[in-house]
Amino acid sequence: MKPIKVGLLGIGTVGSGTFNVLKRNQLEITRRAGRSIEIAMVADLNVERARELTNGECEVVNDANLVVSNPDIDIVIELIGGYGIAKDLVMKAIANGKHVVTANKALLATHGNEIFKAAEEKGVMVAFEAAVAGGIPIIKALREGLTANRIQWIAGIINGTTNFILSEMRDKGLDFATVLKQAQELGYAEADPTFDIEGVDAAHKATIMASIAYGIPMQFDKAHVEGITKLQASDIRYAEELGYRIKLLGISKRTEDGIELRVHPTLIPEKRLIANVEGAMNAVLVHGDAVGATLYYGKGAGSEPTASAVIADLVDITRLATADPEHRVPYLAFQSNSLSDLPVLPM
Ligand code: NDP
Ligand code: HSE
Repeated sequence: MKPIKVGLLGIGTVGSGTFNVLKRNQLEITRRAGRSIEIAMVADLNVERARELTNGECEVVNDANLVVSNPDIDIVIELIGGYGIAKDLVMKAIANGKHVVTANKALLATHGNEIFKAAEEKGVMVAFEAAVAGGIPIIKALREGLTANRIQWIAGIINGTTNFILSEMRDKGLDFATVLKQAQELGYAEADPTFDIEGVDAAHKATIMASIAYGIPMQFDKAHVEGITKLQASDIRYAEELGYRIKLLGISKRTEDGIELRVHPTLIPEKRLIANVEGAMNAVLVHGDAVGATLYYGKGAGSEPTASAVIADLVDITRLATADPEHRVPYLAFQSNSLSDLPVLPM
């Protein structure tokens, strides 16, 4: 069978991890996908660096439009970030009949409804496992593993940068600015780190999870968002003296009147598992009516952990796109946000 051809937009932290892991684990990934997955084209503003990273193994271009309009490309991976050019490219890729994989939670939380509608109309898939909690397969857990459940609440440490900052401030007594700089150097922080420290990134992710868990459209604008910038080192110390840790949690909760959606620093008793999630690790607790509480833990940011999730989506799409159309099941994403008309409550 012909390889499925992929166009990669942006070969930065996550893009380079995706390229490297696909290459390193090619044999296993091909077997699992049932077909070889080939990155045929890469677009990046820094063409020199992209050529060095890809070592002559694929075509490298400066203009991402050349990738989304190339008729030979089956799947476009968007790893540029932001909602400007990224939205334009994703919409063009969909209009040109290409499946899309993206790690861009900002884009999906704010424009996801429009993007999914366009994809459904065109009959293509948009997959985004990497957009929430990096390498943890939380989208798959919510959509597939817990599909029998009515989800009652979700609470998680879903921003690696802020968890890293809070952990390092507590353990090493470092100041906020120094640790934020380290998080940026380690590739955890967003291009605009105010999204991390003001809780916006966590709210994007909480919005996406709520959409899947409660079957509602994306409603980021209704989320209550509070970050960690007002916290002092003394707050962390006093919490510790009282037997608590401070964690930035993304929370959504089903109530009789609707859905609560919020992000804020939270005091957690130090004996709880989630209080001991350190550094850039993420942890998400999901409570379903049938299963009870479940916990998902792993690396929430960084090059290869995030690439792991991007490639899982590539494999899923390759399998579904290769199946005989007559026997293809509807892509779960298209059903997930139209199950209920529960409102997100003002907070
Ligand atoms: P980077 O900034 O490291 O990579 C983005 C890349 O895209 C850069 O190489 C950049 O080039 C390139 N780029 C920018 N504009 C264009 C354009 N118009 N055409 C082609 N290439 C372009 O970001 P990350 O890899 O960290 O993040 C990518 C996405 O993944 C974001 O949506 C982010 O939120 C998400 N994400 C990131 C995680 C992480 O741990 N880093 C984890 C989970 C999700 P240049 O450098 O020259 O500007
Ligand atoms: N900036 C994000 C974080 C990257 O720190 O969690 C992973 O989504």
